[in-house]
Amino acid sequence: MVDRELEQRVGIISIRKTDVEKVWDIGYWTHPALQGRGYMKEAARAVLDFGFERLEAVSIVAQYALWNIASERVLRALGMEFVEYLEKGFEKNGAWVKENKMGMSRVAWMSLSGTQPLPEPSPLG
Ligand SMILES: CC(C)(COP(=O)(O)OP(=O)(O)OC[C@H]1O[C@@H](n2cnc3c(N)ncnc32)[C@H](O)[C@@H]1OP(=O)(O)O)[C@@H](O)C(=O)NCCC(=O)NCCS
Repeated sequence: MVDRELEQRVGIISIRKTDVEKVWDIGYWTHPALQGRGYMKEAARAVLDFGFERLEAVSIVAQYALWNIASERVLRALGMEFVEYLEKGFEKNGAWVKENKMGMSRVAWMSLSGTQPLPEPSPLG
């Protein structure tokens, strides 16, 4: 993730396959000195577009630790909705960190982005 005007790398975002076919997961990080400037909301929106358009995802999900308000705000700004509470989200220093799983379906993304579904092929060709 690069700010072209600053010519500087500002963070990282990835989209990864999950165990469920056509369901992808995103994870991200913005450099601490550059947080709160809107970088991740912009980058994550572009990655969702890529996931639904190019990877043909049916759903894209993400998880955030309950304490991580900034991460939650990014996901809610994208239009993601709560999917599931995870008592044992991930383990850190020998303790479980509680997480929420968020997600967006392809249908919700199309309606939010104004994308039209591909037309059905005409029987007349
Ligand atoms: C989560 C993270 C990626 C957000 O990146 P960012 O570039 O700062 O995000 P944005 O600038 O697009 O801001 C997103 C929202 O979070 C808010 N925010 C940013 N930093 C915040 C903070 N420290 N506390 C509370 N809210 C914060 C912003 O105000 C914005 O919300 P708003 O538009 O509703 O006001 C960044 O905080 C980060 O890298 N954290 C450490 C790694 C991490 O937690 N990754 C996610 C794991 S699920």
